[in-house]
Amino acid sequence: MNPSTPRIAINQSYLANEKDLVSNLLVQLANFQTNDTNNYARKLVSAVRNNKKQQSITEAFLHEYQLNSKEGIVLMSIAEALLRIPDQATQDRFLADKLTAAHWHEHLQHSDSMLVNLSTNILQLTDQFEQYIKLNKQQHQQIFTGLLARLGQPLIRSALKQAMRFLGSKFIIAETIAGGIIESQDHASYRYSFDMLGEAATTTADADRYYQAYFDAINKLSMSVQSENVFANPSISIKLSALYPRYEPLQHRRAVAALKTKLFNLVKCAHTHNVMVTIDAEETDRLEMSLDIFAAVFTHPDFNHWPGLGLAVQAYQKRAIHVIHWLASLAEAKQCEIPVRLVKGAYWDTEIKHAQENGLANYPVFTRKSATDISYLACAQLLIKQAKLFYPQFATHNAHTVAAIHKLAGSYTTYEFQRLHGMGEQLYQEIIENKPCQIPCRIYAPVGSYQDLLPYLVRRLLENGANTSFVNQIENPDISIDTVVQDPVVAWKKDKNVTLPLPAQLFGKERLNSPGLNLADPQQLEQLQQHINRLSSSNYQAYPLINGLAYSGSTKPVTSPSNHQDSVGTIIPSNQNAVTDAINAAANAFNSWRLHPVNKRVNYLRNAADLLEDNRPMIVSLCVREGGRTIQDALAEVREAIDFCRYYAASAIDLFDQPIKLKGPTGEENLLQYYGRGVFVCISPWNFPIAIFIGQIAAALVAGNTVIAKPAELTSLTAIACIHILHQAGIPSTVLQFLPGNGGLIGKQLLADDRIAGVAFTGSTNTARL
Ligand code: FAD
Ligand code: 2OP
Repeated sequence: MNPSTPRIAINQSYLANEKDLVSNLLVQLANFQTNDTNNYARKLVSAVRNNKKQQSITEAFLHEYQLNSKEGIVLMSIAEALLRIPDQATQDRFLADKLTAAHWHEHLQHSDSMLVNLSTNILQLTDQFEQYIKLNKQQHQQIFTGLLARLGQPLIRSALKQAMRFLGSKFIIAETIAGGIIESQDHASYRYSFDMLGEAATTTADADRYYQAYFDAINKLSMSVQSENVFANPSISIKLSALYPRYEPLQHRRAVAALKTKLFNLVKCAHTHNVMVTIDAEETDRLEMSLDIFAAVFTHPDFNHWPGLGLAVQAYQKRAIHVIHWLASLAEAKQCEIPVRLVKGAYWDTEIKHAQENGLANYPVFTRKSATDISYLACAQLLIKQAKLFYPQFATHNAHTVAAIHKLAGSYTTYEFQRLHGMGEQLYQEIIENKPCQIPCRIYAPVGSYQDLLPYLVRRLLENGANTSFVNQIENPDISIDTVVQDPVVAWKKDKNVTLPLPAQLFGKERLNSPGLNLADPQQLEQLQQHINRLSSSNYQAYPLINGLAYSGSTKPVTSPSNHQDSVGTIIPSNQNAVTDAINAAANAFNSWRLHPVNKRVNYLRNAADLLEDNRPMIVSLCVREGGRTIQDALAEVREAIDFCRYYAASAIDLFDQPIKLKGPTGEENLLQYYGRGVFVCISPWNFPIAIFIGQIAAALVAGNTVIAKPAELTSLTAIACIHILHQAGIPSTVLQFLPGNGGLIGKQLLADDRIAGVAFTGSTNTARL
C-alpha cells in the first residue's frame, strides 16, 4: 500500500468544485437506478405517517415552530442558552429580550398537540405581558423588575427551564451509563452505542473528566458483552474533541500525539472487553487529524485482527469518497475489517458559516442536499462492494436512503443500520418489525447531564427543524409522499443550478470578501511556513517618509518581542523638523487631492487590497516577528485590512461619486456634495498594526483628506511596509506622509497645529484625552 496516494486525493477534493465532484459520483453510481427504491420508501413513509398518533411532543413542537420562522429561531436560542446562564436576573432579562421578538399569537391552536398549544399560550401570555408593560424604558424596568419578578417572571422562567429540560431529555438515554444500560435492556431488538456526551473540551480538567467517563463506560459495558462477534455487542462512540482541549489544526502535532496515546489506552481497554469503539466525525477542519489518530491506533500490533475500532465518515464532505478509498487501503494493508459508520453530517450550518467567515476558496461540504444524498449512496456502494474490508453501519433516518441501501446491498447482509436515540423510532419500528432482511439496527444513545447536552441538542434541533430534513418533511402532511421520497439524482438535476454564493461573493456586487488561507489544509500550511521561513532573517528599516523622501537620523534597533536574538531591523524616529515638513507637505497636497476624481481614489484602495493579498507572507512575517502576533492573528489582520480597503472604496462611491440632489421649491437646483476636511492625523495601536493602521488611513484618504500616519512605536516596521503598499497602489506620496517615533512628542507637535482638520485615534482613554 502507498497510503500517501489516497491521502493526497483526499486533500485535493477538500474545497473542490461541487458540480465536478457530483458528476464523478454519478458515474460511479451509473448502474444503480435509485428510483427503483421509491416503492419501498413510499411504503415506509406511509406507514410512519399512519402512525402519527405516536408523534411525540417534541416532534409536534418542532413541527409547529419551524426553524424558518422567527419563533423557531427564538426557541432555539432559548434552548441553547437558558440553562447555561448562571444567575436568575440575567435569565429573566434574556427571556424578556427573546420572548418579545416573536409573534406567538400566529401559532395559537395550530397544533394537534394539547401540550404544544398550552406552551404557545404561555409564550403568548408572556409576550402580551411584555407588550402591556412596554410603557417607556424606565417604567418598564420598574414594573418588570417589581411586579413580574414577584408574580410572572419566576413562573415563566421555571416553565421554560422545565420545557427546555424536557426537550433535551428526549435526546438523552440517561444521566449515567448504568442508567443507560438498564434502559437499553428494555429494547432488546436494538444494539446500542453509548456516547458520553463530551465534546469541545476547553480545559484539561474537562478533557480528563470525559476521558475518565469513557473508561468507566467501557468497564461498565463489559458486563453486558455477550458475543464473540464484536459487532453484536454494545459499543461506545467517542468525540476526540472531548479528550483534548486544543484539538485544532494549528496544534496538529501536539494534539495528534496526545490523542493517539489517549485513544490507544481507551481502545486497549475496549479490546480487552470486546467492546467496539467508533470515532465520531466532527468539524471538517479536524478530519486530517482524526485520520492520523485513527491510523496510528488501528495499525497498532496489539489490535491485529480485531475489527473493533471504527470511524464515522460524513458524506456531506467533498472528501468523503476519498476517505473511504483511503480506509480501504488501510484495511487491506492490515488485513482487518474497519467498521465504518456512514452519516450525512451534523454540522452543515456551522461549516457554511466558517467557510464564509474564513473567506475560503470554496465550501468543504456540499451545498445542495441532493449532492450529499448522492455522495452518501456512492460511499455506501463502495463500502458494500468491498465487503472484506468494511463492516458498514448506515446511520440515517431517511426512508429513501434506507430503501436505497437495501437495494444496493441486494443479498449481502453483513451490515447494520443506526439511528439516534429519540429519532427515527417509527421508521425503524417498521423495518425491524417487518424484518424485510433481518438487518440489525443500533441506537446511538447519549449519556450525561443537560449541561453537556447543549451543543448536541442544538444539532438535533437543527436537524429536526430544518425544512430540507427528512425527519421534518415526514411530519408535515402538506408535503406529498412523492416529494418526501424524491430520488436524489432527480433532485440534483433540478437544483444543480441553484447555487449558494461562494465565500468570496458573500457581499454580492458591493465588494469581494477577503480571501483566507485554509489552515486545516496541510499543504497550504506547509507553503505558508516555507514562505515565512524564507523571510525569517530579512531585515527592515522604518524612517520618516515625507513626499516620498526617506529622512535620515540616528537609528534604534528593533528586536522581536518573542525572541530577543531575532533582529528585525532599525527605526529612525521622526524629529521636530520631520513633523513640520510632514504637516506642510500634507497641507499643500490637500487642495488637489480633495478634487481628485473619486473613482481614482477608490481604485487606489482596490489596488491596495490586491497588493496586500500579494504581499501577505511578507506582512505576516513582519507582524509576527516585530509585533509578537501569532501567524493566525496576523493573517486575520491582513484580511481585515483588505476588507477595510474594499469596504471604504465601496462606501466612497455611494457618498462621493454623484452630488445628492435636494428639493428646489422655487425651481433652483440644490446639490449636496461631500469633500475632504483637510489633513488627518491617523494614530494607531500596536495590537492591530496592520488592520487598524490601514483602516484609519484608507477611510480618511478615500474621503479626500490627506494623511499623516503615526504608527505605534512598537510596530513601525510593519507600518512602513503597509505605507509602501499604499503608495505602490497609486496613493500619491504627497498625500500620505509617515512619521514613526515617540507618540507623545510627535502627537503634541501635530495636534498643536491649526492645519490638522481631524484625528483618527485608537488607543487608551488616557492618551485619547491628552
Ligand atoms: P436527511 O434529511 O436525508 O439528511 C439531512 C442531512 O443532509 C443534513 O444533516 C446534512 O448533512 C445534509 N444537508 C442538509 N441540507 C444540505 C444542503 N443544503 N447541502 C448539502 N447537504 C445538506 N453526524 C456527524 O457529523 N458525525 C457523527 O459522528 C454522527 N454520528 C451519527 C450517528 C448516528 C447513529 C446517526 C443516526 C447520526 C449521526 N450523525 C453524525 C448525525 C447525522 O449526520 C445526521 O443525523 C444526518 O445527517 C441526518 O441524515 P438523514 O439521512 O437522517 O436525513
Ligand atoms: C452528533 O453529535 C450524532 O455524532 C453526532 O451530532
